Amino acid sequence: AEYLRLPHSLALIRLRNPPVNALSLAVVNGIREGLQKAMSDHTIKAIVVCGANDKFCAGADISSFSRSSPGISFGVVVDEIQRYEKPVVAAIRGVALGGGLELALGCHYRIAHAEARVGLPEVALGILPGARGTQLLPRLIGVPMSLDLITSGRPVGADEALKLGILDVVINSDPVEEAVKFSQEILDKPLEPRRLLNKSVPSLPNMDSIFSEAFAKVQKQYPGFLAPETSIQALQAAVNLPYKLGIKEEEKLALYLQKSGQARALQYVFFAESSVHKQSPPSVASWQTASPQPISSVGVLGLGTMGRGIAMCFAKAGIPVVAVESDPKQLEIAKKAVTSMLEREASKMQQSGRAWTKPTLTFSSSADMLCESGRFGQKTGKGWYQYDKPLGRVHRPDPWLSEFLSQYRETHHLESRSISQEEILERCLYSLINEGFRILGEGIAASPEQIDIIYLSGYGWPRYRGGPMFYAATVGLPVVLEKLQKYYTQNPDVPQLEPSDYLKKLAAHGNPPPKDWQSLAGPPGSKL
Ligand code: CAA
Repeated sequence: AEYLRLPHSLALIRLRNPPVNALSLAVVNGIREGLQKAMSDHTIKAIVVCGANDKFCAGADISSFSRSSPGISFGVVVDEIQRYEKPVVAAIRGVALGGGLELALGCHYRIAHAEARVGLPEVALGILPGARGTQLLPRLIGVPMSLDLITSGRPVGADEALKLGILDVVINSDPVEEAVKFSQEILDKPLEPRRLLNKSVPSLPNMDSIFSEAFAKVQKQYPGFLAPETSIQALQAAVNLPYKLGIKEEEKLALYLQKSGQARALQYVFFAESSVHKQSPPSVASWQTASPQPISSVGVLGLGTMGRGIAMCFAKAGIPVVAVESDPKQLEIAKKAVTSMLEREASKMQQSGRAWTKPTLTFSSSADMLCESGRFGQKTGKGWYQYDKPLGRVHRPDPWLSEFLSQYRETHHLESRSISQEEILERCLYSLINEGFRILGEGIAASPEQIDIIYLSGYGWPRYRGGPMFYAATVGLPVVLEKLQKYYTQNPDVPQLEPSDYLKKLAAHGNPPPKDWQSLAGPPGSKL
């Protein structure tokens, strides 16, 4: 943070930490030093705080979170600013997010450009606004709106922030110039009414029900996420405790979240999302460099409406097709339909004088024992379970299936055993993770982050667990490898459980973090 003396007895503290003026230790120290200089200089009457490069501040430095606990020490600075004996005015351009907004809340006045955005997005990182945000915001704008902004993490535009009372002035010109003019107008005004820490939270008669509704809402809206609920507890502390004790509670809750696995996962996701936007696929797997491989034959599983169409397409292109259909009735129908479609095609082509070579269509029937008995799952009302009706959703165990399975075990000399929930989870998750390592090894995905972001965005993987590859690192790669080896030995007929070479290479290095995997495992052996 730079310190500058301005005309008219003013000082300027400008945060400068590209790209977003995050509150690194150096920036925080710079702010404190600037405040001390301005205090000891009797010619300085007021201070303006702003950020360089058209951004106020995007909060604590997320990249340093694994090294230190954010917010807690910065809260002391926010209090120092509030208690400061000279007026401090925040001049906001761009964003004031997280610790950036907390810094502004510590200032006695807030002026912002009309295009600025302010907010406390910490919940998205699995933490809470731990530099007094949960204690100061409700004192300024009341509990209901603070609950909304803090539990959702949504930033608001300057106009909305002005209406809510977060900002004092919104302008279309340069906020620093405006703040300089404004500072001179408020020089003689008492500072005490501007110190949020000495105010109480506006009270409402139905505070208990407001909080219980808020808990119910976040449990429904963000199931499994710790940060929104914990933020509500911090807001309760703002209402129930004096400031001095409220900030202690905020610190305690912030530390609890910061140490949680959810915070680590969500912070990984923040950087993973940002990096996948910048990544290009590995050169070996790029559509720009890959060349098409000749296709000698095609397999189509299932001859329903789509399967028939797909089989037809390839047959028309002169590519041999093997189509597999388990239901003999469906197979007959499909045979007739495909043959008549092909014949129609042939006669059209003959009429137009083009040559027609009759294609190789081979059908074979698969022996899926359940399906052969007509048990296609929900749509037929029975499958692994019995359903209340075809397409029904209410399932119950089926004695037929127990009988079927015991015969099956007898035939194949299998021992029945109970399978623990842990084994079910591990076999599902670790085989999925194993496939992730395979596609990294083959260069199909450019990075573990890409796989994780696809799982978060496309498959509903819980965001607070970071994605399957991050999860593997959380469990520990040697553990994943050992478990896969164990399950594969027990189930050699399940190829998904055979540990991939890529995983073996990495586990030999212990448990390296995902960002180091590619450099440790070497270049992918592409199959593309
Ligand atoms: N700390 C460290 N780096 C940050 C950062 C932060 N708070 N915010 C953004 N960055 C980095 C990004 O990682 C990115 O870096 P690279 O160019 O090296 O990849 C760069 O700044 C630019 O960010 P974007 O690509 O996201 O740029 P954008 O213009 O699309 O968005 C933004 C800018 C709105 C500030 C967005 O980056 C953002 O939402 N950042 C997170 C803000 C946040 O969550 N702040 C709260 C921090 S926690 C806190 O403050 C705790 C507390 O109580 C003190």
